[in-house]
Amino acid sequence: METTFFSMEFNFLSSLFLFATPLFLLFVACKYFTSVTNLPPGPRPWPIIGNMHQMAKNPHIAAANFAMKYGPLISLRLGKVVKIEELIFTTLINTLSNILFSKDFLDLKDVQTAHLLKFRLLKMLKNSVTPNVSDFFPIVGGLDLQGLRRDSLHHYDELSRITEAIVKERRAQSAKKVVLADHEKDFLDRLLENNFTTAQINTLVVELFTAGTETVVTATEWAMAEFLKNKEIMCKVREELTRELNTKNIMKSDLSKFTYFNACIKETLRFHPVVPVLIPRRALEPCEVMNYTIPQNAQVWVNVWAISHDPKVWEDPYTFKPERFLGSNIDFTGHDFEFIPFGGGRRMCPGLPSGVKSLQTMLASLIVGYNWSLPNGEDPAKLDMTEKFGVTLQKEKPLELIFCRRE
Ligand code: HEM
Repeated sequence: METTFFSMEFNFLSSLFLFATPLFLLFVACKYFTSVTNLPPGPRPWPIIGNMHQMAKNPHIAAANFAMKYGPLISLRLGKVVKIEELIFTTLINTLSNILFSKDFLDLKDVQTAHLLKFRLLKMLKNSVTPNVSDFFPIVGGLDLQGLRRDSLHHYDELSRITEAIVKERRAQSAKKVVLADHEKDFLDRLLENNFTTAQINTLVVELFTAGTETVVTATEWAMAEFLKNKEIMCKVREELTRELNTKNIMKSDLSKFTYFNACIKETLRFHPVVPVLIPRRALEPCEVMNYTIPQNAQVWVNVWAISHDPKVWEDPYTFKPERFLGSNIDFTGHDFEFIPFGGGRRMCPGLPSGVKSLQTMLASLIVGYNWSLPNGEDPAKLDMTEKFGVTLQKEKPLELIFCRRE
């Protein structure tokens, strides 16, 4: 990654030098920007994109203007290779923590805390679907032979410590009888009003974070990878978003107008179903399916991946083709059994509305606001799309991109 920083910046820098007068020099600090003190002065960098947006158009003129303002030696930060999953994960955690507690849990710059939180949530998600021998053999039920329960409890306790502190503080506040208007109340206020215990709140929060982050992160990463790989589709989407948007910001009311973009989201969830196999079901009583007997207590696994790649149902199932959803009524609400990325029935994903809106708003903002490129000048058409099977179907090679702000 470090070489990427330098090669990318070197190319950019060399083109700048073509225009630079000998009167001033540019100094690019990028990676060391935050750790080194006493750097030459320069314009304040934005998170992630640095000063890239100020340099994109006519860099020679921008650089000359900076020299007038800051002197002959200037510090600039020219973009950064971003790991998409980290960026999206932090955004989602903060979206959820704002709904629940009216505060950001993570700082975009604090990668270590984000890693640890992600690791714990993923561990709990994995443990929850790993077949546990204790479930199959009641005689060893109490033994926790694989240590799954112990491991999950450990991560649960660590996660609960974060929420517990916030709940404690809020309880103390309400004990002081601070009166809040209805519009000022968040999810936690409502839970406390309804006498939820701290343990119940912890469980709810950990469950929402566990189920509501990795899924959306994975879906966003796949959608971005498909947009990069399929340049024509990306152009059509960008054209539609720009045409239909009323303001620079994406509003909830805009989302239903993006017909082609929404077809792309559906196609992403068909082609790369985030949860490839649904949460296992158990037959409560013996039943018959397709003339076969399913015995009582049998575990039933629904293979969403196989269903959404079934050539009997989908024409050309191994091609990313959003057009297949245009003019079609097929939706992911659990009624069209050929397309169930959010599951179906009573255990269907309760986070569907929030998950889809997060996907739509994050993707649309990144498409409208930035140009994307791969590090080292890699060809997007050759992007490695290998899938890694797990609770969520991840991209084996995490997507890394350089963003450049669009005018
Ligand atoms: C693209 C985003 C998402 C996808 C594709 C997705 C998919 C799924 C699937 C397939 C299931 C299992 C359903 C079944 O077995 O029938 C599930 C369960 C669940 N999802 Fe989502 N999900 C997403 C986002 C979210 C979000 C944002 C939240 C919460 C904020 C959430 C909360 C949950 C919960 C709590 C369950 C477990 C329900 C139960 O107890 O059985 N999901 N999700």
